[in-house]
Amino acid sequence: MAAFQERVFSGVQPTGNLHLGNYLGAIKRFVELQDRYECIYCVVDLHAITQPVSVWGGPKELASNIREVTAAFIACGIDPKAHIVFNQSQVHEHAELAWIFNCIARMGWLNRMTQFKEKAGKDRENASVGLYAYPCLMAADILAYRATHVPVGEDQKQHLELTRDIAQKFNNDFAERIAELGYTDGFFPLTEPLISGPATRVMSLRDGTKKMSKSDPSDYSRINLTDDADAIAQKFRKAKTDPHPLPADEKELEKRPEAENLVGIYAALADKTPADVLREFGGAQFSTFKNALVDLSVAKLGPIGGEMKRLAQDPGYIDGVLADGAGRAQVIAAPVLQAVKDIVGFVRR
Ligand code: TYM
Repeated sequence: MAAFQERVFSGVQPTGNLHLGNYLGAIKRFVELQDRYECIYCVVDLHAITQPVSVWGGPKELASNIREVTAAFIACGIDPKAHIVFNQSQVHEHAELAWIFNCIARMGWLNRMTQFKEKAGKDRENASVGLYAYPCLMAADILAYRATHVPVGEDQKQHLELTRDIAQKFNNDFAERIAELGYTDGFFPLTEPLISGPATRVMSLRDGTKKMSKSDPSDYSRINLTDDADAIAQKFRKAKTDPHPLPADEKELEKRPEAENLVGIYAALADKTPADVLREFGGAQFSTFKNALVDLSVAKLGPIGGEMKRLAQDPGYIDGVLADGAGRAQVIAAPVLQAVKDIVGFVRR
């Protein structure tokens, strides 16, 4: 069997408050890739429960957040008929492959994961075992489809490197058996991360050195996808800036994190580069630039928020999309898992 079929996979956690970072760093890119690749987009509900219940809100909130992320995918322009949209827990192959990867990944690898350190905080003894093993489940998500490309924001880079390490170690540990079964390029592809563009790391509107995040206690730190025009305007107008006009030169921007963030957001929303934006606004006061940013954001995000609200009225439709997607995902994942079991040496029925 020769080279791997090109396939995109990515996931978003249903932990509430989808924000502009999720949109520009991930979902907008998911939409763009649909023309070129076969795409699989997953609402990773098994990942959501790695955090304490207080973070994901409990069973009713989880179900409603799963539907909300699905609605966001569709509202942003993902076509669930041409591609696959589903929630992770409906395809048990993810959890099963993750167990096998728990036995491939080394403690030393997981000990280096910065996201675990951030999320576990000081009280590491009290973090769930699931939070620690999180990257193995993420590798399973991707490799259950032998996906070749994964669009994500910058914060997921280390997890994707681990996914490649797991794929490589599996290919090496079972090299002989894999070749015997006729796979000439190893069994798993070494997945390529797709991290590019001006908004791979959207920062908090309150502090240009902190990532925009669902868990920031201040709602003014982020633009939520469901924010209305007034909220968007208010949040950008209150966004932290420095006292100088916008520079004309990109080099200058690097020293001014808040300005760099707002210019990056504008560029990503307008499908331009930061240099284009500076050509237009270099020398302008922030008040002028913020007005343009508000207008652009409302024009781009308003219809998405509106469509999400409309879809929220129709949970039956959303559940149908997820069930249909899960069925089609399983058609791909089940034979991959069976081949993995054959490679490892488990006896079949
Ligand atoms: P999650 O749910 O935290 O975030 C979803 C996507 O949004 C991106 N993102 C950002 N991009 C730019 N700026 C920001 N401030 C920002 N905040 C979030 C994330 O990089 C991500 O692409 N572990 C993943 C979910 C996952 C996954 C997977 C991703 C599970 N399995 C398999 C890819 C492939 C996560 O927690 O994303």
